[in-house]
Amino acid sequence: MTNFETVLIHGGKSIDEKTGAVNVPIYQTSTYKQDELGKHRGYEYSRTGNPTREALENLIAELENGKYGFAFASGLAAITTVLSLFKSGDNIVISNNVYGGTFRLLNQVFNNFGITFTIAENEDYEKSLTENTKAILIESPANPLLTITDIKAVSNIAHKHNILSIVDNTFMTPYLQRPLDLGADIVIHSATKYLGGHCDLIAGLVVTKDKKLAEKIGFLQNSIGAILEPFDSYLLIRGIKTLAVRMDRITDNAQYAAEFLQKHKAVKNIYYPTLTTSKDYDTHIKQSKNGGGMISFELKENYDINKFFSSLNLVMLAESLGGVESLVCHPASMTHASIPAEIREKIGITDNLIRLSIGIENKEDIINDLEQAIRKAER
Ligand SMILES: Cc1ncc(COP(=O)(O)O)c(C=O)c1O
Repeated sequence: MTNFETVLIHGGKSIDEKTGAVNVPIYQTSTYKQDELGKHRGYEYSRTGNPTREALENLIAELENGKYGFAFASGLAAITTVLSLFKSGDNIVISNNVYGGTFRLLNQVFNNFGITFTIAENEDYEKSLTENTKAILIESPANPLLTITDIKAVSNIAHKHNILSIVDNTFMTPYLQRPLDLGADIVIHSATKYLGGHCDLIAGLVVTKDKKLAEKIGFLQNSIGAILEPFDSYLLIRGIKTLAVRMDRITDNAQYAAEFLQKHKAVKNIYYPTLTTSKDYDTHIKQSKNGGGMISFELKENYDINKFFSSLNLVMLAESLGGVESLVCHPASMTHASIPAEIREKIGITDNLIRLSIGIENKEDIINDLEQAIRKAER
């Protein structure tokens, strides 16, 4: 099975031998009867292994062109497990923009265990490495400014220095970008977003091709125990089936909305990777299929952003992204509030920044809603 859209529907699972059920059954069990001491049927305890979760793990491994997949209770549980590969004294270099929760996890949790992190100055990864650096962790496009990083170039730097390249692929999904093909060692997802696709579950996924890394991650998954439940694993498999059709519609709508905002007299700055004016256009299009569904922008000073948010009728003010419904958020006070104000300012997450997650509604309805809210926000 080589075509991605087909793998979305048929990948990862084994047909239920007993009944022929076309969907993976939800094995809602914590444990499994063993036939005799030391003899079981492949499953002992559901933290260690569960057939529904395993079907999902095989599916995401196939979709990312990896070999080993792991499912977790949230994106942050996935990141926590991956960061647990490191030990006191180790350093991680991260991209200029990362999800606020990832920053908080490094800054306020792993820091306490002696694992330090460095933000790559001017996106110069090689210069930011120290002798203790053990990994580079990036998002591309990064949350929330859609900054693009050349995944192949960063992976090459990592390998030259014998360290790991880790990519959070949440914003693109494997339909639009496959970091392992570009040389990354580990791919992470907040599957809460586009993979789930319906704002009805919280989940995280990790994929690698490397057997040794997979053994370590599998050990940590079982030891830390932040695993995804069988029912949520089923829901995620169900969401993934429609990934390609959802992403096609989302990206078509997003390109349309980005071009609309770009031309709008009220808009000061706009960030969307496949606007031809985007400084990162060439790098992004080299490694990704299209621009995805996220747009960030700033309104000019004579517009009141509170009024803009409260005037929206269709686009909902809410945390999260990647669902079928369009959402809007204010990164400085919502998704990135845990980054100290001076660092936010330095990396460009201004108090005026607005982040949109475009859904699959009619695209005219989306821009009409944005237009009427911008009009009301004019001072
Ligand atoms: C890029 C990115 N990575 C990780 C996370 C964390 O995922 P979760 O909320 O599923 O824990 C998020 C959440 O917004 C995100 O946007």
